[in-house]
Amino acid sequence: MSNDTLEQIQQRRTFAIISHPDAGKTTITEKLLLVGQVIQTAGAVKGKGNQAKAKSDWMEIEKQRGISVTTSAMQFPYNGCMVNLLDTPGHEDFSEDTYRTLTAVDSALMVIDATKGVEERTIKLMEVTRLRSTPILTFMNKLDRDIRDPLELLDEVEDILKIKCAPITWPIGSGKFFKGVYNIVGDYAVMYKSGQGSKIQEVVRFDGIDNPDLIQAIGEEFHQQLKDELELVQGASNEFDKEEFLEGKLTPVFFGTALGNFGVDHMLDYLTAYAPAPQARKTLDGEVAATAPEFSGFIFKIQANMDPKHRDRVAFMRIVSGKYTRGMKVNQHRIGKEITINDALTFLAGDRTNAEEAYAGDIIGIHNHGTIQIGDAFSTFKEPVKFTGIPNFAPELFKRIRLKDPLKMKQLLKGLIQLSEEGSVQVFRPLINNDLIVGAIGVLQFDVVVNRLKNEYNVEAIYEPVNVATARWVECDDAKKFEEFKRRCEGNLALDGADNLTYIAPNMVNLNLTQEKYPDVRFFSTREH
Ligand code: G4P
Repeated sequence: MSNDTLEQIQQRRTFAIISHPDAGKTTITEKLLLVGQVIQTAGAVKGKGNQAKAKSDWMEIEKQRGISVTTSAMQFPYNGCMVNLLDTPGHEDFSEDTYRTLTAVDSALMVIDATKGVEERTIKLMEVTRLRSTPILTFMNKLDRDIRDPLELLDEVEDILKIKCAPITWPIGSGKFFKGVYNIVGDYAVMYKSGQGSKIQEVVRFDGIDNPDLIQAIGEEFHQQLKDELELVQGASNEFDKEEFLEGKLTPVFFGTALGNFGVDHMLDYLTAYAPAPQARKTLDGEVAATAPEFSGFIFKIQANMDPKHRDRVAFMRIVSGKYTRGMKVNQHRIGKEITINDALTFLAGDRTNAEEAYAGDIIGIHNHGTIQIGDAFSTFKEPVKFTGIPNFAPELFKRIRLKDPLKMKQLLKGLIQLSEEGSVQVFRPLINNDLIVGAIGVLQFDVVVNRLKNEYNVEAIYEPVNVATARWVECDDAKKFEEFKRRCEGNLALDGADNLTYIAPNMVNLNLTQEKYPDVRFFSTREH
């Protein structure tokens, strides 16, 4: 590997934001794009009237519901690094997308609404990041409101999320009296000015806690309070330790207001300085390091119709190792085929452009014509590679989908199969009839499917209840026994969107009995096994 490639890889910082809905993820994303100079002015985020929206929100349905459904990638240079930010859906009905996106990052930013504290979805998402010991940075948001006692907030994070806190900045007041933050590590104060939310703020900084200018700026009372608090915090909390941070055991904590555009850059400075460069990824046989000599990557997300005008389907690949160059020949290991990637997209500065090159840690978008699935590995290795840990969950809710206009069957099938490639819903086609059954993990996904079928495929469909409670992917090494199983259980068998055989059960009792009856058949609750 050339020195240049190595240097490029070391500069990559790939992360995602985890938070409870409404904590401020979208607003922070927007401010990050502002700090990263991807956008020049920040507008209101949640599409009020015709105000500008954050670039990460792409889809019509998001505008209607104010829920970030898509997972998009954004890249920008900052502090000598190339930062890749992966957006994750905030709504829990899309948690699978979020889980998979978290397999594609090397660190995560946890955003907490400091008026509320640790909330339920943050707890869940932290559990997911813990599976891979992902390093976590923490941003306590909404300091322009009256927040909870900051020490109490740190205690709550430590108690509930079981991660040590190392405050890097400390708030000086909050709400109407929010004056700024004191950087404990650097021993200086940075002052907050309200009404600067839409552009990069000028930095007003005072060095040293007893700086007369600082005392004058915040007043003696606040100054004494700050001194007392800092003494307390320094006694009661942890110092930043890079090793512990990289092991996911300690989180640096920053205070600020995303809406007021204050403090996000402090966090980003740390992220670029300390968050890890691209990490190795586990495979069935071991692992692939980012600096491995060959190119490799895996698909963590597929999205149809990102640009409705072009009706394209894009597979998002996290590059695990090496360098991508335009026109490169790579092996798609699942189907054992060599393909040429000519027109991969990158997401530099918020624009979709055709990439000439990209490096480990980067996300590239590949046009998908139905041959790519979530979890697929691509590489220039001669031996097949299979990256592990990219889940495709069995759905828990099922509905039969029916057309309003029966003549549009072909369109419906096409739409469903394409949407199921994205992985947030599954489609099942029973072997014995012409039903189409949609399976999802969250209720809202059903609405999204109907909406998107209408908008993107011009098909009007409605749901009916169906007697299916669970689904399992099935496999068997013994061809004869498998045939017998298929013959006897035909009424419960279906093909999923990618033609994999599944067993659809009306209830768990039925599933358990069938499993007992056919011990040689293996039943999987994820497609990745
Ligand atoms: P999410 O993506 O995590 O769901 O949160 P989002 O950024 O959409 O923020 C949720 C709400 O919190 C929004 O208000 C947003 O303006 C507000 N918010 C975000 N950061 C801050 C902050 O630092 N201070 C304050 N005071 N509010 C903040 P909303 O009422 O839902 O939308 P809007 O009517 O303000 O657009």
